[in-house]
Amino acid sequence: MILVTGGTGSLGRALVDRLLQNGDEVRVLSRKNKLRQAETFIGDITEPKGLDAAMREVQVVYHLAALVDHYASPETLHRVNVQGTVNVIEAAIRNGVGRFIHCSSVSAEPGGGTTDYGKSKIETERQLKTYLDDIPVIIIRPGPVYHEDRRNFRRFLTFCKRTGITPVLAPDVMVHLASRKNVIDAFFHARNHGTPGNAYAVCDREPIHRSTLSRIIAQETGGRLITLPLPVLLPFLHIGALLFEGMHHTFGYRPLFNRHYLKVLTRERAYDVTRTRKDLGFESACTEKDFRESVQRCLGAR
Ligand SMILES: NC(=O)c1ccc[n+]([C@@H]2O[C@H](COP(=O)([O-])OP(=O)(O)OC[C@H]3O[C@@H](n4cnc5c(N)ncnc54)[C@H](OP(=O)(O)O)[C@@H]3O)[C@@H](O)[C@H]2O)c1
Repeated sequence: MILVTGGTGSLGRALVDRLLQNGDEVRVLSRKNKLRQAETFIGDITEPKGLDAAMREVQVVYHLAALVDHYASPETLHRVNVQGTVNVIEAAIRNGVGRFIHCSSVSAEPGGGTTDYGKSKIETERQLKTYLDDIPVIIIRPGPVYHEDRRNFRRFLTFCKRTGITPVLAPDVMVHLASRKNVIDAFFHARNHGTPGNAYAVCDREPIHRSTLSRIIAQETGGRLITLPLPVLLPFLHIGALLFEGMHHTFGYRPLFNRHYLKVLTRERAYDVTRTRKDLGFESACTEKDFRESVQRCLGAR
C-alpha cells in the first residue's frame, strides 16, 4: 500500500493516477475531499493522533500535503508544513513504513528561502534529516510547476486571449519551470532510486527567459507582447504591495500580490540538476515544447 498525503492537490492527484496506472494500491490522506479513484483516509497532518490508522500496511509514504501559500503567516506555515511533516514521519516510523518520499521545493535550494513559505520548506528538510536512522528519506524539490489544470495559468491565458495583450514583466529574468508530468516521473522514480537524506531539484531540462515564455503565450493566444518597464514600475509595485499587505493584516483580504511575490517574480532562477541526474538517475525530458503544448491544451480546454 502506498500512502499519498496531499493526494487531492494538483500534484498529488496526478501522482495518484500514475501509481494506479502502475497497478499500485493507493491510499490518500485528505482533510475533507474524497477521491473516486483511490481509498481516501480523512485526516489532518496537524493532528498526530489520527495518522497511525492512515499508515496501516503502508510500505511507502509520498508526503505532498502542505500549505502552498505565499501569504500565510510564518506561524501557520510552521504548523502545517514543518510540524505537520514531523507528525507524518513519526507516524510512518511508528508503523514500520519502509520509505518516505518528501515533496519539498526549489525554494530550499541554495539562495532560496527568501519567502516564509521557502523558509518553512528549508526547516522541514532540516527536521526530516534528523530521522534518517529510523527511515530512508528521499527529498524531491520541484521547480514552479506548470500544467493546464492550474487556475492561475488558466486565468492568465484567458486574460491574454480576451485582451489580445500578453504583458511581459522582467523579460530578461531566467526561470526554471517544471512540467507536472516531469515532477510526477521523478516521484515515481524516487521509489527505487536515490540516496536517503539527499535532496533532488526537479525542473525542465533548461531554464528559460520570461520573454520566451511570453512569446510562446502571445503566439498561442494570437496577442501582442507588451513589455512593462520593470525599473519604472517597481517602486509603484512596492507601494501597492505594502497597501495590500496592510489591508490583509487589517481586514483579512487576500492580497493580489505582496513584497515576497515581487521578490519571486524578479529573482533569477536556474537550478543545478547534476545530482538529480547522477545520483537519483533521473533526467528531465521536458523543454519549452512541453510548455507550449500545455498552453495549447489549456486554451483548447476552455
Ligand atoms: N505547485 C507548485 O508549483 C509546487 C512547486 C514546488 C513544490 N510544490 C510542493 O508540492 C506539494 C503539493 O503542491 P500542490 O501544488 O499540489 O498543492 P495544492 O494543490 O495546494 O494541494 C495541497 C494538498 O495538501 C493537502 N493539505 C493541506 N493542508 C493539509 C492538512 N493540514 N492536512 C492534510 N492535508 C493537507 C490538501 O488536501 P485537502 O485540502 O484535501 O485536505 C491538498 O491535497 C507541496 O508540498 C508543495 O509545497 C509545489
